[in-house]
Amino acid sequence: MGGMQSPEGIYRLFIDGEWVGSKSGASFAVVDPSTEETMAQVAEAGSAEVDLAVRAARRAFDSGPWATSTPNSRAQVLFKLAAIVRAQLASLAEVEAINTGKPIVEAEGDIDAVAEVFEYYAGLATKTPGMVNPVSANALSLSLKEPIGVAGLIVPWNYPLLMAAWKLAPALAAGCTCVLKPAEQTPLTALMLAQSFEEAGIPPGVVNIVNGFGETCGAPIVEHPLVDKIAFTGSTDVGKSIVKRAADTLKRVTLELGGKSPNIFFADADWEASVDGALFGVFINQGEVCSAGSRILVEQKIYKDFVEAIAAKAKTIRLGPPMDRESKMGPVVSKEQFERVTRYLEIGKTEAKVAAGGSSSKAFAKGYYVEPTIFYDVDNSARIAREEIFGPVAAVIPFDAEADAIRIANDSPYGLAAAVWSRDIYKAFRVVKKLRAGIVWVNHMQPTCVEAPWGGYKQSGAGRELGPWGIEEYLETKQVHINLSEKPIGWY
Ligand code: NAI
Ligand code: MG
Repeated sequence: MGGMQSPEGIYRLFIDGEWVGSKSGASFAVVDPSTEETMAQVAEAGSAEVDLAVRAARRAFDSGPWATSTPNSRAQVLFKLAAIVRAQLASLAEVEAINTGKPIVEAEGDIDAVAEVFEYYAGLATKTPGMVNPVSANALSLSLKEPIGVAGLIVPWNYPLLMAAWKLAPALAAGCTCVLKPAEQTPLTALMLAQSFEEAGIPPGVVNIVNGFGETCGAPIVEHPLVDKIAFTGSTDVGKSIVKRAADTLKRVTLELGGKSPNIFFADADWEASVDGALFGVFINQGEVCSAGSRILVEQKIYKDFVEAIAAKAKTIRLGPPMDRESKMGPVVSKEQFERVTRYLEIGKTEAKVAAGGSSSKAFAKGYYVEPTIFYDVDNSARIAREEIFGPVAAVIPFDAEADAIRIANDSPYGLAAAVWSRDIYKAFRVVKKLRAGIVWVNHMQPTCVEAPWGGYKQSGAGRELGPWGIEEYLETKQVHINLSEKPIGWY
């Protein structure tokens, strides 16, 4: 068995504990979005490689050391993995930053969060008991928690290793085995981590990594009859296709999809905190965040001044290369995403007024840089208010009263996240209760805690990740009824 890279430098697939090439010899390029140059070449998996990976995961689930592992032994594996991530934080963060375009300081935060997720589920592995069910006196009834089986994990490029960890950690804690498909734009950090799987005590076949494209590598995982569950983060369109394709084998499916999350500002909110929170809510990670506060709803009383204030501050946001510690925003992830975002900038100019930005950045000779952009006087029916852009683009919408804010906020096919800013606790909490969203922040936007549930209402998804909710999605519940009476039933 060779290492992660072939003699020609091609990153291999990780299947059944071994580094392997693709059967066809096909590979694809991974691009650095700040230079537009190829930074790596990666072996491409299709249905043949997916089949190998799924069969390895199936074997590892059905027999061998993982099949008889205890929650405590799995906890130790996850703690070890977390320690390895912490020890390799600098190199993982550097690759993550260069490959995604995000500022290195943010990438370091992401990798730290990866370790935290493994630590959390290491702890939870031994704290997910079944139940004794209160049935009749002559029986003992139990509900046992058992791993679902083989889990297909399909993740996006905005937080590559973190999104993988959100799925791997609870899956492994539960005792599942996995086939992980990173996004084709950002496959490298998952492979880097796989180099330490053996050291962490993960037996061969328990985690397999296949890299490739959605239709040719993702879809075969979704359709494979030996896969029991799919966990997906990505676009709502692909989420819908996964539900349809998983129907033939009735897989369990959890989805974390798009959003168009409202960030609501009342006139009585703290001014400085609000200006800051509006920008952070939508521009962190270049706006490539499922929960981005991309609709900024502002009370009429402060609307004009607020637009001016956030536009003035947006113009000071420092764009720059990911490895520059002063950069607050890097390029968007890919040419495709750059074209998508700049297309929406043109659409926005026909629908609303520009307060800041409005085009790609001219400050760099190369790279997919987009100016932080604020559209205002946006109507909630505009495309830039309804469709997920997934880039540094905000749509500011005025509202008159509390009821209008709630109506506009909920008028969206999405329901992932929302935030409300006010110093009036009665008003803030009334709004919280009315918002149709899976995550609601008050006087903040974006903090994400591994201990708390994450997931969407409406077309933003199905199921919940993180916290105890996260592990439940990888568990089956078995009812066991134990008769305590030795007498025959006596019916016939
Ligand atoms: P995508 O949803 O196509 O890709 C996400 C993952 O799904 C990737 O690993 C991809 O290879 C895989 N995939 C694609 N088609 C598939 C299929 N038919 N079957 C199985 N797996 C498949 O997202 P994409 O094209 O990278 O970005 C498009 C838009 O999606 C973005 O502009 C954004 O609006 C949204 N998006 C949302 C994310 C979120 O965190 N909710 C993350 C990434 C994208
Ligand atoms: Mg796609």
